[in-house]
Amino acid sequence: MGDSSDYHRVYAGWKADPEGFWAEQAEAIDWFSQWDSVFDADQGVYGRWFAGATCNTCHNAVDRHVAAGHGDRPAIIHDSPVTGTKRTISYAELREEVQALAAVLRDLGVGKGDRVMIYMPMVPEAVAAMLASGRLGAIHSVVFGGFAGHELATRIDDCRPKVIVTASCGIEPNRIVEYMPLIAHGLEEAHFTPDHCVVLQRPEHLCVPVEGRDVDYREAVDAHKRAGTMVDCEPVDATDPLYILYTSGTTGQPKGVVRDNGGHMVALKWSMDAIYDIRPGEVFWAASDVGWVVGHSYIVYAPLLHGATTLMFEGKPVGTPDAGAFWRVIEEHKVAALFTAPTAFRAIKKEDPRGELIGDYDVSGLRTLFLAGERADPDTIRWAEKVLGVPVIDHWWQTETGWTIAGNPVGLGRLPVKIGSPTVPMPGYDVQVLDDEGHPVERGTLGNIVVKLPLPPSCLPTLWNADERFRAAYLDEFPGYYKTADAGFIDEDGYVFIMARTDDIINVAGHRLSTGGMEEVIGGHPDVAECAVIGIADDLKGQLPAGFLILNAGVEKSEAEVEKEVVRLVREEIGPVAAFKIAVTVKRLPKTRSGKILRGVMQKIADGQDFRMPATIDDPAILEEIGAALKARGVGAFARETA
Ligand code: COA
Ligand code: AMP
Repeated sequence: MGDSSDYHRVYAGWKADPEGFWAEQAEAIDWFSQWDSVFDADQGVYGRWFAGATCNTCHNAVDRHVAAGHGDRPAIIHDSPVTGTKRTISYAELREEVQALAAVLRDLGVGKGDRVMIYMPMVPEAVAAMLASGRLGAIHSVVFGGFAGHELATRIDDCRPKVIVTASCGIEPNRIVEYMPLIAHGLEEAHFTPDHCVVLQRPEHLCVPVEGRDVDYREAVDAHKRAGTMVDCEPVDATDPLYILYTSGTTGQPKGVVRDNGGHMVALKWSMDAIYDIRPGEVFWAASDVGWVVGHSYIVYAPLLHGATTLMFEGKPVGTPDAGAFWRVIEEHKVAALFTAPTAFRAIKKEDPRGELIGDYDVSGLRTLFLAGERADPDTIRWAEKVLGVPVIDHWWQTETGWTIAGNPVGLGRLPVKIGSPTVPMPGYDVQVLDDEGHPVERGTLGNIVVKLPLPPSCLPTLWNADERFRAAYLDEFPGYYKTADAGFIDEDGYVFIMARTDDIINVAGHRLSTGGMEEVIGGHPDVAECAVIGIADDLKGQLPAGFLILNAGVEKSEAEVEKEVVRLVREEIGPVAAFKIAVTVKRLPKTRSGKILRGVMQKIADGQDFRMPATIDDPAILEEIGAALKARGVGAFARETA
């Protein structure tokens, strides 16, 4: 395809000499000691990057910039319409905060290799906690604030944190989210008990500390600031974990994605120039949450490693106060690039279909809009392009990779956009499409999208304490390849198209959720004999979960009552972010003769799509019953029909 981008040369250069390519990019990072090998194929499950090197991520994200004379440069701008506050924190101030918090954690016994759980809203102290953990060589695990007690418990038991850093509350537009009752629920359910909680008291809701367990964040940090306590950046192996981020798997047990220190820094630093076209000192805004991978990589680590200014927005695209919030932030803070999920733009478009509110603001400083996290639908892309007047760049990645698998590298020179495709594989990724038997398919043919091993720097080397699960979940099905669990195709120009997940994961408002996890919770309701959860298409959130319940014989409550309880149970156990509001009681579930629930067919019925009757179906009449139940409720395609 004819274009002036440097992409093809750079990608070919990587392919010809992967180790040389990454060694060159690694020069942008400060190392305490050099690696023995850029890639050691004999270490780890499929090899390890920068084996033998030592480094520290906090040093590269913070101290290095101060030492280079950029201490006055803004590191974080916190814009919080939900509290009506704005704060700018310079690199020098960030170093002071991180150093003092590292001292607090050290006082509580945290050292190299220990885990620190972080359960916080979108405040700069959450970033400080991540960096302070890294400064000590500890391993953080951030849990998204929209997850509730049960999700906390499974994570606590898996990573066994010494300390939890948290806040008294988060703030949603319609309510204050008190964290202490959620933590209490998590700790009650978990078998493991952390020693301490460091609690940031927020004026919107003060919590009562637990005697002997809780430490006041601000008091303890300020005491170390006054004392001028120094905490050096602990040298760690490049291959040591920086963090564990749990993500939905095919069961209720989330997968602990491990991120290392060295490779992670190298890939993220490269991406800021090559993919996002951002220069140090510019303002980069990832409108996500620190609890998600987009937040880890592009609210926290990449912009700071790059010496850019990261914008932290504690608000929503709509309702805080209106659908012009994004435009205000872009103007006020001179945002050069915005990165968010398509659902945010669908929400804005729904409230302000003609994009009239943008007329009140000067957004001319914005160069690019990046979208990821879910499929970017053509309508949203075109609308955003028209309203903002800047290129809209879709890119595809996963919690597991931590950065783009396929994208359009604006910094290398933008490639022609094909709407519906996140464009082309980035250097480091040899993306292929295989059929179910593992044979390559023709260009343009749908199949399993895989990445030839080894995965590039920043991608997960394994799952936390679970090498075997890592192999089973990602590597065994297609030997020699990483299974992305996304289905799609590559066209004749090498453009990648992502069409659907091949497992039970659904994507709700850009949030990755496991229907299997929801089924486990619903199955725990005493009146539910059996259930199936599917994701049905939704104009705003992309997908919404819908649960089908079969009740036990002899249940005295009404169906409506049990359905209400089930909705409440999912909210209390998994959290409001599951957005589980549709529960429908049915008499039977469609199954194959071997007893497998036909979720895919149910989803097609709910979405009003054509489907082929599975040859192995036990009783085809059940499909009609499912359709009738959905119709009676006006759910999915039936809602659109009746609208
Ligand atoms: N803490 C507590 N509760 C939270 C939360 C948090 N951090 N984040 C979301 N929730 C709650 C919401 O308040 C909502 O509760 P409700 O059922 O009482 O209304 C529920 O979880 C569902 O949240 P969500 O699906 O996000 O819906 P929403 O109506 O609040 O917002 C969007 C919809 C589209 C505006 C919002 O999802 C959004 O901005 N998404 C795009 C950006 C993004 O975060 N992407 C993620 C990865 S890039
Ligand atoms: P997460 O791990 O939360 O980032 O979710 C990763 C999953 O989201 C991917 O496996 C895809 O199914 C989906 N996804 C992310 N980005 C895109 C995109 N640009 N286009 C289509 N699907 C995407």
